[in-house]
Amino acid sequence: MWDDLKRRGAAAEGREILSLFEEGDRAASFSATFGGMLFDYSKTNIDDGTMAALLRLAEEAGVADRRAAMMSGEKINETEGRAVLHTALRNLDGGPVRVDGRDVMPEVRATLDRMEDFARALRSGGFAGQGGPITDVVNIGIGGSDLGPVMAVQALGPYCDGPRCHFVSNVDGAHVHDVLERLDPTTTLVIVASKTFTTIETMTNAETARAWMADRVRDPGAQFAALSSNRDATAAWGIDESRVFGFEEWVGGRYSVWGPIGLSLMLAVGPEDFRAFLRGGQAMDRHFREAAFAGNLPVLLALVGIWHNQVLGYPTRAVLPYEQRLLRLPAYLQQLEMESNGKSVAMDGTPLETSAGPVVWGEPGTNGQHAFYQLIHQGTQVVPCEFLVGAEGHEPALAHQHRLLVANCLAQSEALLRGRPLGQARVLMAEKGLEGDELERQARHRVFPGNRPSTTLAYPKLTPEVLGMIVALYEHRVFVEGVILGINSYDQWGVELGKELALALDPVLQGQKDTAGKDGSTAALVAYMRDHGLG
Ligand code: F6P
Repeated sequence: MWDDLKRRGAAAEGREILSLFEEGDRAASFSATFGGMLFDYSKTNIDDGTMAALLRLAEEAGVADRRAAMMSGEKINETEGRAVLHTALRNLDGGPVRVDGRDVMPEVRATLDRMEDFARALRSGGFAGQGGPITDVVNIGIGGSDLGPVMAVQALGPYCDGPRCHFVSNVDGAHVHDVLERLDPTTTLVIVASKTFTTIETMTNAETARAWMADRVRDPGAQFAALSSNRDATAAWGIDESRVFGFEEWVGGRYSVWGPIGLSLMLAVGPEDFRAFLRGGQAMDRHFREAAFAGNLPVLLALVGIWHNQVLGYPTRAVLPYEQRLLRLPAYLQQLEMESNGKSVAMDGTPLETSAGPVVWGEPGTNGQHAFYQLIHQGTQVVPCEFLVGAEGHEPALAHQHRLLVANCLAQSEALLRGRPLGQARVLMAEKGLEGDELERQARHRVFPGNRPSTTLAYPKLTPEVLGMIVALYEHRVFVEGVILGINSYDQWGVELGKELALALDPVLQGQKDTAGKDGSTAALVAYMRDHGLG
């Protein structure tokens, strides 16, 4: 199968994507819709035969069986012996979901109800701080306990009518300092968000926040809440269980925004809009489960990804939302995709036959256009681009700006497709009055190779429901890619070594231990730090 795809990849190298539009209605055949969204992948070098081969790849990899296994609570996270059931968190009106024979839905619903009661009380002033109604919420968490809520709160800015939400993640004291400095502890709620409740960054920042609160608040613990699977640790930390919102180990950190980890989002937008977000996710789950692969958005997104990374060997993928409020989506997807699929061994521990990845990066348009698009258009590497854009903005008075935004998005994918050949560049230079060698030289700098692939995910408007669909779409895309690559997308052992070494380095930096056993570079860096003011 891979050999066949590689052959097709080699054949596509010399082919113009534009030429594929000459046959039939390519924009219609190489696109799919769901829930008002349009996924257009016609501006890629995938032809009918390649698409059929990619679909066969997904069939033969057993995506359908694996999908059923995941959604029915089988322990598909084999290296940790865990089920993978973030879909249960948005299974609003679905049936039972069993793990080890036990239906997890009653508990999921009960926790959601408790979160909603808490959110209503806090938003109405029924739950208040020592100084009055809660005006500000600080979510302290990192990775999956930060990126989801921070991305979603920004994305849904127009729906935020609750307390202001702030996020502290980095162990760099500057982060917690700069956030807390602006806040009044007597009207602030601090949420400690950590699945394990052991993450050093989060626990350190939480201690700092507690000390800050204790300075001005008689009972600081009363203005703390915890989101975690580790109830013993939350109790030991002194957070009353009425404000502890738990979840099970079958919710992976980077898939956890749908449950308690989404509390800050719920506080910001309110329970109804949070439910709309869940509804969007659930709708995408249904689509993923039921739609034939040829019209299944997560499957298609995954196959395009496989084509670009594993078959054609493009090492990175740019995510380019033309939606300022999706500013943190690229960072969110970096964790979702790179922590899930950045692996080198298959489920059985043997080395992978293909590359896994790719590197995911990006920034909202139009900002990126004035920064790194130069490389995307004229650099020597091909960067497959994934554009996201809404038809309608949230500022009716600024509809003309939204039109400009959309024009820029569509123009970029058009420019990547068409490019500008040397002949056209020469005409341009001639029009400027250049001649001879100078004309030729200047023209060459103005050539755009074109034939660069992109996809566009278009949606009506960035509502809570649409955001839910988009996030679930990417989650399932990562799943499909992982199944095709034969890897476990749900562990993350690759983050452990650095954590262990950081813990071991702390006493060395404090001067309590020497650098024996360290490599020369690390030892020299320790010496530099100690000589230059490290506290
Ligand atoms: O170090 C990686 C990681 O384990 C992520 O997978 C996770 O989202 C993040 O750390 C935070 O973990 P926790 O929620 O347990 O604090």
